[in-house]
Amino acid sequence: MTGTYAGLQSVIWTGDKLDLLDQRLLPEEIVYLPLTSAEDVWEAIRHLKVRGAPAIGISAAYGVVLGSSSATTLEEWSAAVQKEAEYLATSRPTAVNLFWALDRMKAAASRFVESGLTLESCKEALIQEAIAIQSEDEETNRLIGEHALTLFKDDMGVLTHCNAGGLATAKYGTALAPFYLAKEQGMNIRVFADETRPVLQGARLTAFELQQAGVDVTLICDNMAGMVMSKGWVDAVIVGTDRVAANGDVANKIGTYSVAVLAKAHGIPFYVACPLSTIDLGTPTGADIPIEERGAEEITEGFGKRTAPEGVKVFNPAFDVTPHEYVTAIITEKGIVRAPFEENLRKLFEA
Ligand code: MRU
Repeated sequence: MTGTYAGLQSVIWTGDKLDLLDQRLLPEEIVYLPLTSAEDVWEAIRHLKVRGAPAIGISAAYGVVLGSSSATTLEEWSAAVQKEAEYLATSRPTAVNLFWALDRMKAAASRFVESGLTLESCKEALIQEAIAIQSEDEETNRLIGEHALTLFKDDMGVLTHCNAGGLATAKYGTALAPFYLAKEQGMNIRVFADETRPVLQGARLTAFELQQAGVDVTLICDNMAGMVMSKGWVDAVIVGTDRVAANGDVANKIGTYSVAVLAKAHGIPFYVACPLSTIDLGTPTGADIPIEERGAEEITEGFGKRTAPEGVKVFNPAFDVTPHEYVTAIITEKGIVRAPFEENLRKLFEA
C-alpha cells in the first residue's frame, strides 16, 4: 500500500500512556481512552474496548510496559514484567496473538537484563519492543494484502465475517487489507459484510471502516449469507482468524464455520488471512483451541435493549472452529498456504 490508507488507528502509544480507540462505541462515537496501567489494559481487552487478535496482542505488549514502569530496581522490574505478562494473559483465551506478544515481551526483557543494560535502558528497550510489535504488524498486513489481492479480480463479490480490518490490527487489517489495496489500484471489489451477531463487529466496524475508505460494501445479516451466495453474488469468502492450529483448523468469530460450510456448498473458495503470529503450531487441532464464552446479556439485551425473556438459558461462544477441510488457503505475510496444511504451515516457520 502506498500510504493513502487513512483509517482510524485503534492503538496509539503516546510515550507514557496508551490511547485506545473505544471500539464498543463505534460507529456512533470516536473516543480514545487514556490507559495508564496494566489493569486498564486488561479491562479494555476483556470488555472489547480493543478487540481483534493482533490489536489485542499489541495492546497487551504496551500493558506490560505500563505495568512495569514504576519499578526502582532491575530485580523489581524483571519480576514486574513476568507478573504483568501473566496477568494480561488472563484477559481473553482464544486469540493466540495475545500470548505470542506477551511471550515476546518477557523474552525481550530477559535478554535486556542478561546483556547488562541499566534499569532505565531496559525500560526504554521494552517500549521499543512494543513499538516494534506494532510496526511489524503494519508491514505484515500490507504483505498479506498484496498476496490476497492476487486471488481477486476486478468486479468480484467477496464476503467477510466479523472485523479483520485496520481496527483489529496496527493498520490495514488482514482479511480487509486486499480491499484497501484494490481500491488504491482502481479495482472494484463488491464486499458483503456479515453483521456478525451478537456484538455486531461486521455492522459496527467492518461496514464503518470500509465505507469510510470508499470501498463498495453491502451490509447483510448473518442469516442472509446463504441467500446472497445462491444468487451468485459471492465469488470468494475471506476472513481473519484468532488462532490457526497446526493442522490448519481455524478459530474465528462465531458464525465463521457456518459461512465456510455455505461456501463449500456453493463451490466458493474460503480464504483465511493472518500473520504468522496467529499460527500456533503448539496447538495440534481446532479441538485444542480454548473457546471463550461470553455473558448471556450480549444475546438477551445487546446494546441495552432486551430481546429475550428474563432467565432464559443462553449459550454464547465468542468463536467457532472451521475444520481445515473447508479452508481453500491461508494467506500470510510469507505467501499463500494450501493443503496439506500440517506440512505447509510448518514450512513457513522453517524458512
Ligand atoms: O471478539 P473479537 O472481536 O476480538 O473477535 C475478532 C475476530 O474474530 C477477528 O476475525 C480475528 O481476531 C482476526 S482480526 C485480524
